[in-house]
Amino acid sequence: MKVINQISELQAQVKAWHRQGEVVAFVPTMGNLHGGHFALVDRAREMGTKVIVSIFVNPAQFDRKEDLVAYPITMDADCEALEKLQTDVVFAPTAADIYPTGALRTKVEVPGISDVLEGEKRTGHFIGVATVVSKLFNLVQPDIAIFGEKDFQQLLVIRQMVIDLNMNIQIEGVDAVRDEDGLAKSSRNGYLTAAEREIAPVLQQTLQDTISHLKVLGAAGAASYQDLQQEMMAKLDAAGFRSEYLEVRRNTDLQPPDEGDKGLVILVSAWLGKARLIDNVQVLLN
Ligand code: PAJ
Repeated sequence: MKVINQISELQAQVKAWHRQGEVVAFVPTMGNLHGGHFALVDRAREMGTKVIVSIFVNPAQFDRKEDLVAYPITMDADCEALEKLQTDVVFAPTAADIYPTGALRTKVEVPGISDVLEGEKRTGHFIGVATVVSKLFNLVQPDIAIFGEKDFQQLLVIRQMVIDLNMNIQIEGVDAVRDEDGLAKSSRNGYLTAAEREIAPVLQQTLQDTISHLKVLGAAGAASYQDLQQEMMAKLDAAGFRSEYLEVRRNTDLQPPDEGDKGLVILVSAWLGKARLIDNVQVLLN
């Protein structure tokens, strides 16, 4: 496994691979890798003949400076794990390589899908994500890129961007990887105290509860989803969370469902102590 920091070295490597007909599968990350990231790397290994993982904590997508400053950096452990997963290249550029002027200049904005939920709560977040991912796509020139459904809205933003900008890259989504008690793995889980970690699975349990209620209401009951959302947020707050949103949305465009819409996703964001946790589950009503 090669760890490449220089853009020019990465470009030379990728060019050589494409000349040899290799299929390049790419997993962008911000490091501090866990089982969720590893599932993406495994999928990349299955789908490509060469696997590139990027590790870059992207300042442009952090709406809160404290979050960026506190973001855990574990480069040595990350590289050790990636080597075991038969990664071919780890691309770890510096912020100065990616943003030479120190600021975002040309920006990629994916309107509509970026404007709701996370986009509403985190101003500019998806511009930061879409811009860095398109820069990374230009640098890595992957045939396939793998993203987690844990960040469902991010996956939809990337899919839309690839369509809108005619990027010739296959986008692959991978199910959220969870701890045994249902908590989705996340770098932010490290901010939880032991007592908060005990409460954390209530987030996923509440989503499962919401599914049960949705199944009773059915696609014809869309007018009642608002009340259900309120009830479930109150439940989270009673358990010790500070809920930001719990929303039943269409799984295609993340808009509120109309009566009869069956392909749904429930997305939640809630603070628990110092950690802002997000999760989602998809539901297909019949
Ligand atoms: P990061 O949070 O490091 O996540 C990198 C990838 O891992 C994303 O596609 C994310 O959805 C996926 N992932 C995280 N936790 C997961 C879990 N529990 N199960 C499955 N997949 C999981 O997302 C980012 O970085 C950044 O926004 C990035 C795309 C790298 C752009 O900077």
